[in-house]
Amino acid sequence: MRLLVCGGAGFIGSTFARQRLLEHGDEVTVLDKLTYAGREENFHDFAEHPSFRFVRGAIEDPTAVAGAIEIGSPEAVVNFAAETHVDRSIAEPDAFVSTHALGTYVLLEAARTHELRYVQVSTDEVYGSIEEGTFTEDSPLRPSSPYSATKTGADLLVQSYFHTYQLPTVICRGSNNYGPYQYPEKLIPLMILNALHADRLPVYGDGMQVRNWIHSSDFAAAIGHVLEHGVAGEVYNAGGPDEQPNIAVVKRIVELTGAGESQIEHVSDRPGHDRRYSLSSEKVRALGWSPRVRFEDGLEQTVAWYRENGWWWEPIRSGDYRDYYERQYGRSLG
Ligand code: NAD
Ligand code: TYD
Repeated sequence: MRLLVCGGAGFIGSTFARQRLLEHGDEVTVLDKLTYAGREENFHDFAEHPSFRFVRGAIEDPTAVAGAIEIGSPEAVVNFAAETHVDRSIAEPDAFVSTHALGTYVLLEAARTHELRYVQVSTDEVYGSIEEGTFTEDSPLRPSSPYSATKTGADLLVQSYFHTYQLPTVICRGSNNYGPYQYPEKLIPLMILNALHADRLPVYGDGMQVRNWIHSSDFAAAIGHVLEHGVAGEVYNAGGPDEQPNIAVVKRIVELTGAGESQIEHVSDRPGHDRRYSLSSEKVRALGWSPRVRFEDGLEQTVAWYRENGWWWEPIRSGDYRDYYERQYGRSLG
C-alpha cells in the first residue's frame, strides 16, 4: 500500500512507519511539522529506505498537504499528527485547537478530493475517566482536558465525513502507550531518565491514578490492522493487556534502574486529573488483532532501550526540554 503518514516523526507514528516499511513492504511518505516532539532521529534506521519519503509541513497547511499527496500518491492517509501532552494542553491550549480541529479538517478535505481511505489515530481519553469497568466504542464521549476535548472534536469531524460524504474513515483509539522513542515529558520515559540521573521522581497527587498500558509496537500493529480490515465508518478501541497505578509503575522503574525510592516525591496533582482509563478491545480482537507485549516485559525492555540509547535522548535532555521541565515542575533537572 502507498501511505501518507501524518505526524510520522513522533513516537507512535515513526513506530508505525517502521513497521509498514520493513514488515509489510508498504511505501511510506511522512508529513510532519517537526514540533518539539517530532524528530528526524526517529527515522535513523530507515531514512534511506527506497520506499520512504519525508516532507516537512503542517497538516493545517493545505499547500503542504497537497504537496505530500503529489509526492507520495497515497491510497490512504493515517493521521497521527497531534499535540499529545495533557500538561502542555493545560498550560497552553492554542496549538491543540489548531492542529486537532483545523489540521484534521484539512486532511479530511484532501482525502475527499483524492478519494483516499482515512484512518484517524485517537485516544481512550475521549471517553473521560472510569472508576470501574471498561469503555467500549459505544461509551459516551466525556473528555476532560483541552487535549482530550480537541481530540474528541477531531473524532466527531471524522465521523461527520463518513456520514455526510461517505468518505471511508476509521478511528482507532489507543490506551496509554510506552516504548522506545517516547519524548521524556510522558510518565514512563520521564521517570526512567530522572531515575538514571538521580533526579526526583515527581508523582502527581497520591499516585493511585490507573492507566491501561499498551506497548507502542502493539498499538502501531492495531492501527495497521484497522487500516487493512476495519469497516468504514467504525471506531475500534485498542487497549493494552495490563493496568497499573502510577505509583506501582514508578516503583518498578526504581527497581529496574537501581535508583532509590527516596527519589520519589509526591507533588501537586494535575488540575482535572482523570483517575482511571480502561479500554475494552473486543471489537478489534474480533478482527484478528491482539496485544503481544505484557507490561512487565515491555517496561524492562523500555528501561534497557533508554539506558542504551543516550544518543537519542541526550540532545533532548540538554535542550529546550530543560526549560519546559523547570516551568512545569518548578525545579531544574540535575
Ligand atoms: P508525539 O507527540 O510523540 O508525536 C506527535 C507528532 O505529530 C510529532 O512528530 C509532531 O511533530 C507532529 N505534529 C504535531 N502537530 C503537527 C501539525 N500541526 N502538523 C504536522 N505534524 C504535527 O505523539 P505520539 O505519542 O506519537 O501520539 C501520536 C498519536 O497517537 C496522537 O494522535 C495521539 O493523540 C495518539 N495517541 C497517543 C497515545 C500515547 O500514549 N502517546 C495514546 C493513544 C493515542
Ligand atoms: P502522561 O504520561 O502525561 O499520560 P496521560 O496524562 O495521557 O495519561 O501521564 C500518565 C500518568 O502519570 C497520569 O496519571 C499523570 C501521571 N504523571 C505523574 O504522576 N507525574 C508526571 O511527572 C507525569 C508526566 C505524569
